Amino acid sequence: MTTTPVSPESSLSPSLIATLPGHFYTDPEIFRQEQERLFESMWFCAARSADLDKPGAFRTVQVGRESVIVSRNRKGELRAFLNICRHRGARLCTEESGEVKRSLQCPYHAWTYDLDGKLIAAPNLVKMPDIDRTAYGLVTVALREWLGYAWVCLADEPPSFEETVIGAAVERLGDTASIERYRTEDLALGRRITYDVKANWKLIVENFMECYHCATIHPELTEVLPEFADGYAAQYYVGHGAEFGDEIKGFTVDGSEGFAKLPEVADDQDRRYYAITVKPTVFINLVPDHVILHRMFPLAEDRTVVECDWLYAPEVVESGADVSKSVELFHRVNAQDFEACERTQPAMASRAYRHGGVLVPTEHHIAIFHSWLTEHLGGIGA
Ligand code: FES
Ligand code: FE
Repeated sequence: MTTTPVSPESSLSPSLIATLPGHFYTDPEIFRQEQERLFESMWFCAARSADLDKPGAFRTVQVGRESVIVSRNRKGELRAFLNICRHRGARLCTEESGEVKRSLQCPYHAWTYDLDGKLIAAPNLVKMPDIDRTAYGLVTVALREWLGYAWVCLADEPPSFEETVIGAAVERLGDTASIERYRTEDLALGRRITYDVKANWKLIVENFMECYHCATIHPELTEVLPEFADGYAAQYYVGHGAEFGDEIKGFTVDGSEGFAKLPEVADDQDRRYYAITVKPTVFINLVPDHVILHRMFPLAEDRTVVECDWLYAPEVVESGADVSKSVELFHRVNAQDFEACERTQPAMASRAYRHGGVLVPTEHHIAIFHSWLTEHLGGIGA
């Protein structure tokens, strides 16, 4: 039996660019390298600041191979620590979220840490006066707040937040003011939906970066944003936002009225949709009356949990207004996208995809993501 040979890159037509080979999406060793060199080395969007609404509130998140606690101290400041007791290494917090009164206590031998991570109590600690309570405090993780989210970085020397995180918005929109006008940090959570996607995180990024699929799988979105129906990657021209169709009143599942434009959003940003990818794991979607923010948690080479937040003006959420038509539009987009990614994942292990697939011209910018990735992996897997 013979199989049809898959074209190596050298024989591609000029309008096609090769994708990554299939094993980049299935190989546990490549995923391990991504954990080490991307998720544990770059700024990682871990938690929404307002979810930690009082001192002692905490959330545990998986960042690469590490579990990280994000919590609020007595002064109300956010702190992040490795979720590891300094005594014999037990995991301190096993719940995804919760609240403690004044301290974090290890369930194994009861070493107890204050909300700044300092060791404050342990059985017989007074009989060990030589123990430096700060040195045996929890291991601190770097933390920055931006857009109302806690971004953490496990690297000893974190990369520039301005360049690698805020820079992604600048690269996309042309300046920082354009995103600041949405005042995302002041918005309230209208809805959160968590998706457990059986696909490699890179398939989700690549899908988000192109609109070649929009006409096929996103009927509701292309109705609202007609220029997406051409598969034109307009969202990747600096400063360009896809314009609402003439008949469309708001960014809703049926094009009906949304809410009032966020007050500082400029007139030339009104009736437009902007998408920003903050590599490696965040997507930001800006529309006049709300912001949709996706955080990915890559858990395995073939599994990614995506937490998606719909954020509105506080008065919209407080008034109990019905946000369902506006949530439904992007929820459908998410479901359509993730189904496509899950449909693609099994092919990554097929001999048909040994040398990868191809990118058509409207997807060529995905190759920039691939170069970024292989550069960070230092040629591993090539
Ligand atoms: Fe935490 Fe012993 S491992 S107190
Ligand atoms: Fe899509």
